[in-house]
Amino acid sequence: MSALEELKIYARERYIPVMSDEARQLLYDTVATKLPKRILEIGTAIGYSGIVMLSASPQAVLNTVEMDERSAELAKQNFAANGFADRVNVFVGDAREIVPLLTGEYDFVFLDGPKGQYEKFFPYLTDLLSVGGTLVCDNVLYKGLVEHIPDDKRHKHITVARNMRAFLDDVTANPRYSTRLYRIGDGVTVSTKLR
Ligand SMILES: C[S@@+](CC[C@H](N)C(=O)[O-])C[C@H]1O[C@@H](n2cnc3c(N)ncnc32)[C@H](O)[C@@H]1O
Repeated sequence: MSALEELKIYARERYIPVMSDEARQLLYDTVATKLPKRILEIGTAIGYSGIVMLSASPQAVLNTVEMDERSAELAKQNFAANGFADRVNVFVGDAREIVPLLTGEYDFVFLDGPKGQYEKFFPYLTDLLSVGGTLVCDNVLYKGLVEHIPDDKRHKHITVARNMRAFLDDVTANPRYSTRLYRIGDGVTVSTKLR
C-alpha cells in the first residue's frame, strides 16, 4: 500500500476530513499539468492533499494554513516522512487572520478550509494569484445543499450553504476567471485567472 493510501485510511478511521478519491485525482492531474512553483493551501488537515500536490509538481514549494494544532503537527510529521519537509511551510493559525497578511505571488491556490468563508477569502486569493495561475476549490456543492437550499431555516448547514452559493456564483461569473465546475466528490471548481 502506498504511503498516501495509508494516510487516507488513517484519516478516515479517525474522522479527519480528507478529499475524495475523485477530487484527489483531479487535483493531482491539474497540478501535474500546470507544474506550479508556489502553491498556497487553505486547510492542511494532516497533509494528505499537500502531499498530492507536492508529488505532482517536483519544483513546487507549498505554504499551507491549518488552524487545528494537532492536525498541523501531524501534517508536519507526514510531510517529513514523505521527504517533503524542505518544500513545505505549515502556518498554524486561523486562515481568516493569516490570509489577509500573506504577500508574494502564488501560481496555484487550493482552497479547502472553512466552508462558510470561501467568499471572504476570494478577493485576497485573487490578489495573491498570478495571471495564468490556478485556483482549485473543494466542497463547492457542499453536501448537495448549494443547489437545493432547504426551506428549513434552522438547518444547521444553511448559512454555510448560502455562503458557498454566493462564492460559487461569484467565481463562475467573475470575468477575471475561467471556471469549470466538476460534479465529483463534494464538487470541485478549477479556475484559471485570466487577468
Ligand atoms: C476538509 S479539511 C482539509 C483537508 C485537506 N485539504 C486534505 O484533503 O487532505 C479542512 C481543514 O480546514 C481546517 N480549518 C477550518 N477552519 C479553518 C480556519 N479558519 N483556518 C485554518 N484552518 C481551518 C480544519 O481544521 C480542517 O483540517
